[in-house]
Amino acid sequence: MSFNLQSYLQAQGNKISAVFNEFLSERDGASQLIQAMSYSFLAGGKRIRPILCLAAVDTVGGDEEIALPAAFALELVHTYSLIHDDLPAMDDDELRRGVQTCHVRFNEATAILAGDALLTLAFEVLANAGMTNGPSAIKWLGITKILAERAGCTGMVEGQMRDILSEGKLLSVDEMKKLHALKTGALIEASLHIGAIVGGASPEQTRHLRRYGRKIGLAFQITDDILNVNGDPKLLGKAVGSDAEKLKNTYPSLLGVDVSLSLVRELIGEALHSLETFNKKALPLIEIASYIAQRNR
Ligand code: IPE
Ligand code: IPE
Ligand code: MG
Ligand code: MG
Repeated sequence: MSFNLQSYLQAQGNKISAVFNEFLSERDGASQLIQAMSYSFLAGGKRIRPILCLAAVDTVGGDEEIALPAAFALELVHTYSLIHDDLPAMDDDELRRGVQTCHVRFNEATAILAGDALLTLAFEVLANAGMTNGPSAIKWLGITKILAERAGCTGMVEGQMRDILSEGKLLSVDEMKKLHALKTGALIEASLHIGAIVGGASPEQTRHLRRYGRKIGLAFQITDDILNVNGDPKLLGKAVGSDAEKLKNTYPSLLGVDVSLSLVRELIGEALHSLETFNKKALPLIEIASYIAQRNR
């Protein structure tokens, strides 16, 4: 049977929405905070980080079901990062995931708090997973540490800081690569790393999966920046042209679209190389790598 990436992405993404809906069913739907969290979480993101996490589990022959809380936690952190990224003090964007950004739909204070609550919930979810999986509690502690490190001041948040501080300044390609690796690569690599751990990967398999994550992570952000130049806002569900307006340091602004595109292809090639030691279970990861280079949303 042939592999259909679109149905795979849809089905895997639905699993993450289902976990959120389960969470919602136990919360006060009248709360403005819950409404704002839910608004952004269920707005229709691609769910690429949790999907990568589950695919890594599968690739090493692990149990996806056990990994669901980890995959969910990754998407919670990612959604919080987008809500805060869009705030007036950050990128000041009004459209996200095809709908008004959280602070436009509600208000700034609510968006800040919804982000805070999504981030906190991620760690509650991981703690619960550790407590209900007694014998592997230590594994869940390790996963918690990776997520905290890669999301926080040694990962995504530091990348966001550099992104903001470098607006209007010209970075070197190396500085920009580091910025991208932190703001976007860190959480994507963590998705693969966490999947490897839950799936019971060997140290060598973990190394390969993390390298794959670093390569597609950078390719993902370069593609995001290319789409900000030449993408279709209707498909993207967010504004285009905003990076140039804010004098952001991006690959296309520094090197042009064509060089950026060839770098993406190179990175995908390197990512695929990291998967060569795996059997056919790596097919979803292989297909996702190509999708990242060709995506239009
Ligand atoms: C957008 O991430 C922000 C970046 C780190 C490039 P996604 O493109 O994964 O956004 P959603 O989750 O699909 O909305
Ligand atoms: C977002 O980067 C990275 C995050 C950590 C949220 P961008 O600011 O370039 O992403 P978009 O284009 O707003 O999605
Ligand atoms: Mg930003
Ligand atoms: Mg932004």
